[in-house]
Amino acid sequence: MAEPQDSTQVKTEKEAKMLDIYVMGKHYQVPEGLTIMTALEYCGYRLIRGCGCRAAFCGACGTVYNFKNDPVLRYALACQKLIEQDMYLTQIPFFPAAKPGYGLEKMEPTGEQILKIYPEIITCFGCNNCTKSCPQELEVMEFMSAAIRGDLEQVTAKSFDCLMCGLCAARCPQGLVPYNVALLCRRLHGRYLTPHSRHVDERIAEIEAGKFDVEIEELQKMSLEELKRRFDERPILKE
Ligand code: FES
Repeated sequence: MAEPQDSTQVKTEKEAKMLDIYVMGKHYQVPEGLTIMTALEYCGYRLIRGCGCRAAFCGACGTVYNFKNDPVLRYALACQKLIEQDMYLTQIPFFPAAKPGYGLEKMEPTGEQILKIYPEIITCFGCNNCTKSCPQELEVMEFMSAAIRGDLEQVTAKSFDCLMCGLCAARCPQGLVPYNVALLCRRLHGRYLTPHSRHVDERIAEIEAGKFDVEIEELQKMSLEELKRRFDERPILKE
């Protein structure tokens, strides 16, 4: 994946090859080497939605694009995808997909339970648009099939890198919401099927007893530079 762009590293207009892009149909010229996100900013757009971590973690920047005289839609994370000549860009900052409420504590880790919350998933007819639209290149249709079978282990393994960008739901002709279905499966798997960790229990008890209060207070008072130095000097890195 491309590193998030640092605008100070971008060549000046005189040095750089300029590319033609179109944002919501409006033509701009931007230097080669920018991501879609930094190109939008270069064009003067102030991103207050559809922009988060800038590092392929938060899934806020799902974008669809195609090219002049090539209408096939492609999908990407705007913070990662580098612009190309004649790109036509449209951002989908938030896709309002269905997300039923549920109480994890009263549920069972079964296929029946998943179908109770998301009965519509059985209407999947295997078009594979979800997989094709995933900027993380996850096998979305496969984990949806696993969800229908009630195989929480498979869904969890295959959807673990999902960023919840929503592009799979935006492209599903049946109106399914693969990313939320997978989230339910991972939650059920984590709550009921993942082996219990004694170490986590012990650490939580220590935190609640105030064992780390002094250190936490010390960290809260540190400057950013001190924090970075402390992070880089962690003993675990020297082992
Ligand atoms: S801004 Fe967070 S994934 Fe792109």
